[in-house]
Amino acid sequence: MSKCFCIFASVVLKNLFVNYKLHKVLELKNIYKSFGDVRVLNGINLHLEKGLVYTLKGGNGSGKTTLINIISGFLKPDEGSVELRGKPIIRFLPFHVNRLGIGRTFQDLRLATQMTVYENILLALEKRMFTYPDSEQQKKANEILETISLSDKQNELAGEISYGQQKLLTIGCCIANNADLLLIDEPVAGIDKDNQIKIIQLVGQLKQEGKTILQIEHHPGYIRETSDYVLQMEKGVVVC
Ligand SMILES: Nc1ncnc2c1ncn2[C@@H]1O[C@H](COP(=O)(O)OP(=O)(O)OP(=O)(O)O)[C@@H](O)[C@H]1O
Ligand SMILES: [Mg+2]
Repeated sequence: MSKCFCIFASVVLKNLFVNYKLHKVLELKNIYKSFGDVRVLNGINLHLEKGLVYTLKGGNGSGKTTLINIISGFLKPDEGSVELRGKPIIRFLPFHVNRLGIGRTFQDLRLATQMTVYENILLALEKRMFTYPDSEQQKKANEILETISLSDKQNELAGEISYGQQKLLTIGCCIANNADLLLIDEPVAGIDKDNQIKIIQLVGQLKQEGKTILQIEHHPGYIRETSDYVLQMEKGVVVC
C-alpha cells in the first residue's frame, strides 16, 4: 500500500513539474542594471506563465521600461539571466529576440509614421522592407487589421490616425510579428475611452489565444479588466 502511494505521489509530482516547466514562458533571475551611479534594477526575480496577463506598476523612473528593454534585448543587464522557455536569451540582439516570439511596443510608439496603417502591419509581418506581399501575407494583414479594429483606416498614414488608434496599431505589429509573449508599454495612457475599450477587448482576445502579456499600466479600471497578476516595482525590485 505504501509502495503504491509512493509511486502515485512521484507520478503526480513529476507531472506537476513537467506542467510547471511547460507553462513557464519567461524567467528573470537576479537582474541588476545601473545607469552611471544610479542603480535602477536591484535584483529582479520574476517568472511569467503561458496565457496570463501581468501588469507592472510603479512610479515614474522606477525602471519599468528598463525591464522591458532588457527582456526584449534592447539593453543588457549588468548581472542576471533571462530565459525564454528555458533558453538563455541575454546575449541575443533585439531582432533575434523578436524572432524567438517576444514582441514589444514602445512607450513612444515608434511607428513608421509616413507609411500607411496597412504598410506598418506588412512591415511587421514580413520583417523586411521593399518586397511585394504575396496573397497569403495580404490576407494575414487584413485579418490583423480587423482584429485591431483598424480595417477602415488601412490606407491612412500611421502618423495621421488618432493616438489611441496608433496604440492599437503597435499591438497589431506585435501580432504580425507572431509574438507569443507581448511586452506592452502603457497601452491606454492618454487615450480616449472608445479605444481603451477596444484595447481591453484585444488583450482579452490575445489571452484567450494563449498569448502571455507583460504590460506596464497605471489606469485602475484597465488593470482590473485585463490583469491576472499585478506586479509592483519598488526600489528596483518587483513586489507582488
Ligand atoms: N538608456 C538610459 N541611459 C541613462 N539613463 C536611463 C536610460 N534608460 C533609463 N534611464 C533612467 O533610468 C530610470 C528608469 O527609467 P525607466 O524608463 O525604466 O522608468 P519607468 O519606470 O519606465 O518610468 P515612466 O513611468 O516615466 O515611464 C530613469 O531615471 C531614467 O532616466
Ligand atoms: Mg516607462
